[in-house]
Amino acid sequence: MRKSPKDIVRVLLTPEQIQRRVKELAAEISADYRRKELTLVSILKGSVVFLSDLMRQLDCHCAIDFIAVSSYRGQVNTSGVVRLIMDLRETPVGKNLLIVEDIIDTGYTMDYLLRNLSTRQPKSLKVCTLLDKPAARRIFIPIDYCGFSIPNEFVVGYGMDYREKYRNLDYVGVLNPRIYEVKR
Ligand code: PRP
Repeated sequence: MRKSPKDIVRVLLTPEQIQRRVKELAAEISADYRRKELTLVSILKGSVVFLSDLMRQLDCHCAIDFIAVSSYRGQVNTSGVVRLIMDLRETPVGKNLLIVEDIIDTGYTMDYLLRNLSTRQPKSLKVCTLLDKPAARRIFIPIDYCGFSIPNEFVVGYGMDYREKYRNLDYVGVLNPRIYEVKR
């Protein structure tokens, strides 16, 4: 694990904990999709690190595609309005889609994605998230594969950012509230 910047008050998940859990999730997914064509749908930008680790542990064929949405616009609290920034490149029609997300917080982003993708005739549609923050949930989300349930704190690292910083940390850490209280 790389040295923490001073803005990180606590390491929540070490690289070792993350990698161990990613392997377990990949084993479960591989078994479930052994005889199916799987398409991983990565939600940009936060999920790219998780996607790249998860897909390399999968023991089944998979395609990948990307979709970009945003509601936080670099802030700590969601605007509640989810915007589609970039659509999938391939058609989702007839595909077994597995949405790969870094974190489900209020649930607004995933709710939007599930509603959007389910209208486009996929063969199946499931959700895989590395992190789940149940105390922050505003809307019910069915989660098929979940890495860790975490407390209601603002986390960064392993793909997750605050104002585009910290995505490249190899662990998940709690951001010092002073960072966003001062800059808000
Ligand atoms: C983050 C995260 C999820 C979403 C979860 O994305 O990657 O997509 O927020 O929050 P919610 O459950 O409250 O909707 P963000 O909009 O910050 O964009 P990013 O992935 O590009 O950082």
